[in-house]
Amino acid sequence: MDSKRVVSIIGTGSYVPEKVLTNQDLAEMVETTDEWIHSRTGMRERHIAADGQATSDLGAAAAEKAIADAGISVDEIDLIIVATLSPDMFFPSTACFVQDKIGAKNAFCYDLGAACSGFLYALETAKNQIAAGAVKTALVIGSEKMSTFIDWEDRSTCILFGDGAGAAVLQAGGEGRGVMDAVMGSDGSLADLLWTPGGGSRNPISREMIDQKQHFLKMQGREVFKHAVVRMGDTVLQALEKNGVSSDDIKCFIPHQANVRIIDSIAKRLGVVGRMYTNVEKYANTSSAALAIALDEAVKDGAIVKGDLVVLTVFGGGFTWGANVLEWNK
Ligand code: UT7
Repeated sequence: MDSKRVVSIIGTGSYVPEKVLTNQDLAEMVETTDEWIHSRTGMRERHIAADGQATSDLGAAAAEKAIADAGISVDEIDLIIVATLSPDMFFPSTACFVQDKIGAKNAFCYDLGAACSGFLYALETAKNQIAAGAVKTALVIGSEKMSTFIDWEDRSTCILFGDGAGAAVLQAGGEGRGVMDAVMGSDGSLADLLWTPGGGSRNPISREMIDQKQHFLKMQGREVFKHAVVRMGDTVLQALEKNGVSSDDIKCFIPHQANVRIIDSIAKRLGVVGRMYTNVEKYANTSSAALAIALDEAVKDGAIVKGDLVVLTVFGGGFTWGANVLEWNK
């Protein structure tokens, strides 16, 4: 492990669209209340992209902040990975659109699909490409315009999601251990508990498919909740063991921001109450952007400082899950 090349996060950034949709606003759209939403999820408000704004626009805005934070020239970026489940279009990749917008002409670009787990998967993928010596500098983005495929008449899902993007610049080198090894897992047999069943090759776009609202996100919330608690908890323990650190050494745990009750359950199970970072109140669940935004905010508001050990953990559709450990060295 020690002979591996160190890979560090040298800059982070995030962006959320201007428009805010509060629980009160939702109570005027569907049969719900601020009290129900807040007590069941911890959410108060979420940001919603403007009509003309696409996922790559959100991602590019976050990326520009991360690049400025890293203090590098955009020409230094060799690789761009965008984790998203709401791409601008089926193809080309959203990463190519981001590349064009930010002018990163020396980068090669692709998207990564791991639903809400996407940012952690992309971080691990970029880290390994850097550690292997294939690239020196990578831009990793989690970006989502969830509002596009939410059924705004379904109170069980429409209250849960928001739009936004977060980004990180990774580079070879740095003090300490930097981005350590991730543990990741998937279970495709549970795909139908959280998915958007229509619009792809299985169930192509048709009048009938749209009439049946198959192009909207569907979720069995209670089932997803149970799996999320178990998987994120287990994977954090595995990632700690893999990297030879104990939960007592960790300054801050940053989990996927889907529900504050999920986060609290994991914290209790791991005995780390008070060390879990959460901003779900402000943004709701922004899928692959959630971890990226939370990481950026944790750094900017001083919850993480140089030398701290940090755990990231995610869970999402697929199912997919994962965790890794960082030694924050910026
Ligand atoms: O990002 C990927 C991972 N996603 C997640 O991790 C989400 C995981 N799931 C959850 O966060 C929770 O399951 C929810 C927040 C989605 C739901 O909370 P819950 O405590 O599991 O509620 P429930 O689905 O069991 O519903 C309880 C009741 C139902 O009424 P009955 O059948 O008990 O009469 C629902 O119809 O609450 C009702 N309900 C609502 N009531 C007011 C469902 N949505 C609403 C709503 N407002 N928006």
